[in-house]
Amino acid sequence: MAAENTFTPFPHFATNAIHEGQEPEQWKSMAVVPLISTSTTFKQFSPGVHAGFEYSRSGNPTRNCLEKCVASLEGAKHALCYASGLASTLNVIHLLKQGDHFISMDDVYGGTNRYFRTCAVPLGVDVTFVDCTKLEEVEKALKPNTKMVWIETPTNPTMKLVDIEAVCNLVHSKSEAFVVVDNTFMSSYFQRPLSLGADIVMHSVTKYMNGHSDVVMGVLALNDDKRAERLRYLQNAMGTVSSPFDCYLVNRGLKTLALRMRQHMANGLAVARYLEASPKVVKVVHPGLPSHPQHELAKRQMRGFSGMVTFYLKGGKEEASTFLKALKVFTLAESLGGYESLCELPSVQTHASVPPEQREKLGITDNLIRLSVGLEDVEDLIEDIEQALNAAVP
Ligand SMILES: Cc1ncc(COP(=O)(O)O)c(C=O)c1O
Repeated sequence: MAAENTFTPFPHFATNAIHEGQEPEQWKSMAVVPLISTSTTFKQFSPGVHAGFEYSRSGNPTRNCLEKCVASLEGAKHALCYASGLASTLNVIHLLKQGDHFISMDDVYGGTNRYFRTCAVPLGVDVTFVDCTKLEEVEKALKPNTKMVWIETPTNPTMKLVDIEAVCNLVHSKSEAFVVVDNTFMSSYFQRPLSLGADIVMHSVTKYMNGHSDVVMGVLALNDDKRAERLRYLQNAMGTVSSPFDCYLVNRGLKTLALRMRQHMANGLAVARYLEASPKVVKVVHPGLPSHPQHELAKRQMRGFSGMVTFYLKGGKEEASTFLKALKVFTLAESLGGYESLCELPSVQTHASVPPEQREKLGITDNLIRLSVGLEDVEDLIEDIEQALNAAVP
C-alpha cells in the first residue's frame, strides 16, 4: 500500500469480477447475466456420457460461474464454493487424517475455534492454538506430524496481523504442512494470501464477498491441482455445496466488490479516527491507524482496509451495553461485511463460544466493541456514534 488511505488495487480486479466465468457463450440463449440453474439433474446422451453436468451436487452451471470468478479474484487456478464458511473449514479439515496435528492462530473467529476444539479434535486430529504473530511460537509448536497451519489475518475481533509471507516461509522450510489463510476480513480486494505463499485461501463469503447480508456461503481457492482434486471429491462426497440461487446472488454481489470495499475502507477509517480522538474511548484497534502496532506490516501485506473497527470503550459491560443499545444507524447484530453498519459485543455474541480464560488472554473483554462499518453516509455514522457515546459514558 503506497501511503495511508491510498492504495494500489490488484490489476484487472474489477474487470475480472465482472467478466470472469460469465461468458454468454456458455448458455444456448447467450444470456449476459448467468442463469440460475435449479435443475438437480441433467440429461445424458447415453449412460455416463453428458454435456459436463450429471447431478447438481457434483457440478452446477451457476456454481461454476461463481467458482471461476472467485478463482480469478484470488489469483488462483481453482475455487470451490460451500454451504457456509464453516462448511469450507470442515472440508479443509478432511484433508487431514487421524493422528495428524495442526496449528491454529489463537485469535480466530469463535465458530472456527469451536469447530476445531469440539468437532475436529474428537475425529482424531490434534490442534495447538498459537499466537502466530510470533514466529518463534509457530516454530516451537511444529511437530513431525503437523500437517496444517491455519491463520486468520486481521484476526476477529482483536485485529492482530499475521505476517503471511514469513509464516509460510517458516512452515514450508521446516515441515510438510500446508498453510490456510482465512481472508474474510479483507476480501479478495485487499489481500491475496496465495501471492504471499499460502496454499489455500478461505472466505466466509457471507461477509464482504457477498456484501448484502442475504447469503451464508464459504469458498476455498488454491493453485495445487492434486489438493484441488481432493477438495472437489470431498465437496461432492460430503455434500457441502452451496445452492444455485445463493451462487447467483454472490456472483451478482462480486460485481460491486471493488466499489464497496473502497467505500468500506473510507468510512471505516473515518470512524476509527473519530473514535481515537474521543476521550470516551480507551483504545481503537484498526490496522490503518499509525497507532496500530503492526501498521507497517499492514501497509506491506494489505492493499487497503475493510470497514472493521474494534475499540475498547471506557467502562465495562454496562457501558458497552448502553452504547450498543443507543446506536440507531448501526444495528446490533452479529456478522459483518454487509452494506449496512453493524455493531456487537464479541464477548457475549460472536466469541461467546471461546472459553473465558482464552478470551481474557486474547483481550476480548466486556468493553471491547466490534463495528462493521457499512456504506451509509459517514456523517450519519459518526453522529450516531457520538450520541451513543454520550449516552453510555458520562
Ligand atoms: C473470519 C470468519 N471466518 C469464518 C466465519 C464462518 O463463516 P460462516 O458464518 O459463513 O460459516 C466467520 C463468520 O462470522 C468469520 O467471521
